[in-house]
Amino acid sequence: ERAGGRWQLGVPVIVASHRAPVQFRREGGRRIARRGAGGLVTALLGLVREIPDAVWVCAASTEEDAAVVAEHRGKAIPIAVGPLPRIADPDAHDEPVAAIRMVEIDPAAREDFYSVISNPMLWFVQHGLYDLTRAPNIDEVEHEAFEHGYVAVNRAFADTIAEEVESRGGRALVMLHDYHFYLVAAMVRERCPDVVLSHFVHIPWPGPDAWRVLPPHMRDQIFAGLLGNDIVAFHTERFARNFLLCAQELLGLPINLDKMTVQYGPRTIAAKTYPISIDVDALEEVARSKAVRTRLDDLETWLAAEGGKLIVRVDRTDPSKNIVRGFLAFERLLDDHPELVGKVRFLAFLQPSRLDVPEYVEYIGRIGSVVARINAKYTRGGEAPIDLRLHEDFLTAVAAYSICDVVMVNSIADGMNLVAKEAVCVSRRNAVLALSENTGAYEELGAFAVTLYPFDIQQQADALYIALMMPEEERRERLEAAAEIVRANNVTKWLDFQLTDLAEFTGLWSWKPTR
Ligand code: G6P
Repeated sequence: ERAGGRWQLGVPVIVASHRAPVQFRREGGRRIARRGAGGLVTALLGLVREIPDAVWVCAASTEEDAAVVAEHRGKAIPIAVGPLPRIADPDAHDEPVAAIRMVEIDPAAREDFYSVISNPMLWFVQHGLYDLTRAPNIDEVEHEAFEHGYVAVNRAFADTIAEEVESRGGRALVMLHDYHFYLVAAMVRERCPDVVLSHFVHIPWPGPDAWRVLPPHMRDQIFAGLLGNDIVAFHTERFARNFLLCAQELLGLPINLDKMTVQYGPRTIAAKTYPISIDVDALEEVARSKAVRTRLDDLETWLAAEGGKLIVRVDRTDPSKNIVRGFLAFERLLDDHPELVGKVRFLAFLQPSRLDVPEYVEYIGRIGSVVARINAKYTRGGEAPIDLRLHEDFLTAVAAYSICDVVMVNSIADGMNLVAKEAVCVSRRNAVLALSENTGAYEELGAFAVTLYPFDIQQQADALYIALMMPEEERRERLEAAAEIVRANNVTKWLDFQLTDLAEFTGLWSWKPTR
């Protein structure tokens, strides 16, 4: 049943995430497709490459997206799923094709959904960033936004998914993704009782106390929504346990921590752990391409000729990524080791993110000022130590991974962090991974990384020094071991385990996924 190395399931698959794999824009009169931001898109691109007949339901977020939706009259849009997805050319069958169904959201509802509830509230609560000293925290605005934004957008997505399910005879596997859609499963199940539903939470799930900042009616709806699934999945065991502990403590439901299940009325829901990964083969292909290999030629020449060293980071400009403290640690490194001034550069690819959320705009401002200050202090011979690139550039980022000496990932909290996994797979200079202990990736790669304690500037500076000075042999050993782990747990494995469990656990159908 498996064709061309891909999954063939005996049942239709519908994948849903808020962020689309592509965003369309009009530049200079032409339609341009850009890859959606973030690790989730990276991972789901791997997933739909494995299940090419899946439909991916996602949000239209630009004017040009809306134009594309109109051209396809609300039907699914075929996309080519290379590392940089775009609308598929019907005459060129050289790349796997998936289909996306873009949901248009009313702008006012989107604002409430995205900029009041999903990001400054749910994302912040789940990453330990929610500021309890700020007042008001939850007031009329948030109550209204929950109803008219979060609930309404979840309803719109549930309706579109239900339509897709119904058009396929009422049976499908629905795979929901992330914190934007905690209410969707219960809504879909109500309309389509024969579906199998899973929800993957890509971000940390904190214990019960953290959730108490939300009013009971909000958290009750969130849990009731999630308990509409057959499986709720996380990147780490710790997050899955926290989820069950919340169900027990906040909802009084019976849980079983040996079996990792919760009983909700007549239904048993499993909390599972599947550490997400990347499509290693696809990434390696990109890394080998000429477009990538020649991208940072100047920098590579400098590294070779001057014996210079390069630290790289690749992130969205998100407070959870701890970018400001990362630069402060780099400054401390130069303060403590003046011999490194002019010898070490920090190349930071920071993709501006969520600029319709005030907290994110303010954060970009802080990043800009700290970089300006450090560069003013340590620029020598016209060369600034920090090269800040505030735009999306996946190919140059891959080039940077491959030639750097150290990759810095110092997140305050991170569900997984795929940058860590990408970097170790394509490094050509035995890069050392300097990795926050508070990332999901640390559970798999921590033993081969230099640990970063994300709140301690001095420790991070010392760790960067250790990483930069590490003997070649040790760097090579660590890198190879880390890359081995990522390769062995490719995104295909992530999917295999989920599909196998879903078939087994639900026992609903006789389908057996084969690959
Ligand atoms: C993280 C989240 C994703 C999100 C991405 C980009 O990876 O887990 O759900 O899509 O960030 O954020 P954005 O708000 O631009 O979609």
